Amino acid sequence: MKRILLIVGGGIAAYKACELVRLLRKAGHEVRCVLTEGGSHFVMPMTLAALSEDKVYTTLWDLKDEAEMGHIQLSREADLVVVAPATADLLARMAGGIADDLATTLLLATDKPVLAAPAMNVRMWRHAATRRNIDQLRADGVTVMTPDEGAMACGEYGPGRLPEPAAIVAAIEALLTPHVTPLAGRHVLVTAGPTHEPIDPVRYIANRSSGKQGFAIAGALARLGARVTLVAGPVALPTPHGVERIDVETAREMAAAVEHSLPADAAVMVAAVADWRAEDAAAQKIKKAGGGTPTLRLAENPDILATLAHGTRRPRLVIGFAAETEKVLDHAAAKRARKGADWIVANDVSGDVMGGDANTIHIVTVDGVEDWERLPKEAVAARLAERIAEALA
Ligand code: CTP
Repeated sequence: MKRILLIVGGGIAAYKACELVRLLRKAGHEVRCVLTEGGSHFVMPMTLAALSEDKVYTTLWDLKDEAEMGHIQLSREADLVVVAPATADLLARMAGGIADDLATTLLLATDKPVLAAPAMNVRMWRHAATRRNIDQLRADGVTVMTPDEGAMACGEYGPGRLPEPAAIVAAIEALLTPHVTPLAGRHVLVTAGPTHEPIDPVRYIANRSSGKQGFAIAGALARLGARVTLVAGPVALPTPHGVERIDVETAREMAAAVEHSLPADAAVMVAAVADWRAEDAAAQKIKKAGGGTPTLRLAENPDILATLAHGTRRPRLVIGFAAETEKVLDHAAAKRARKGADWIVANDVSGDVMGGDANTIHIVTVDGVEDWERLPKEAVAARLAERIAEALA
């Protein structure tokens, strides 16, 4: 049993907070609800009081509460503070350290972990100000969930829906579970995403890598206590909590960043590095005028994985990825030997893997092949991080 302080913000998704309270109570937790002024326009205090079997707090100026229990005590008595739905406005006030109502005062006064489940219109979610606020909150140690994608109450479509109450409960349980940190004191290097190889100032060679799997692995390693350096190609993904990120564009920049980040105990090379670059990238935009079709001469990029695995500063565990469209295991085994990796994580990318949210992988080691069932990329990451922890133990 844990004590959860639930702050319900003012959004249409506030009705889902009722279901969240019910699920948390069912899981055996005590829930105490704080309703913002906006929230009280969407759900009745009475509903939350009945579901939580406790008083619902709505205002800072309730002197009786201050006499019975000050706002500091209210915020610290909990094991975890949850904000659901976290509106754009509430997130902005949290990020700015503003304390102008009971909810934000509690959030500023708490010394407990905070989980925010955002819900807002897709444009508000994508607005630069919200992006900035989310980055700030994550940097401050707040766990901000990614909203669901789908049809919105306002008729638009996109990310911004409150995550399902069951998913919020899962995130709560994860935060309440004592941290096992088998990778504490270890440094793990991860590469992720594609690389962009310029042809001229406006054109480049790229590939379909989304970076999702590599970012998930970096986050999973950090959760196990590792110091993680993530060398990321051009992707628009948020940096996982606790991960140090170096943004690069080209394969050669990625190679330099990897070299610069050594020594490491392990390296997980998930990036889909471009094998070739334009030999002579044009300094000015190549024009059509003049006739003829330009010929692109390619030069081979450095193999970052092979260089690392055969180098003098080789991490103890070197893991490569192999995205294949045919003869997956044969190619992966050959790649492992050729590149000098300890493991190759092989996947068949002939389907919807690139950019998708699930992955079916095979771990190819010197001892043979281990097949994993199709799993969400986050689950692949968590399991792989555990395997890495075992190997380094
Ligand atoms: N890799 C790398 N540097 C490169 C190319 C690939 O570090 N220049 C790494 C990738 O991060 C991945 C592994 O090598 O971990 C395999 O990448 P892949 O593109 O499948 O290998 P290639 O050598 O390019 O083989 P292929 O002939 O299949 O393209």
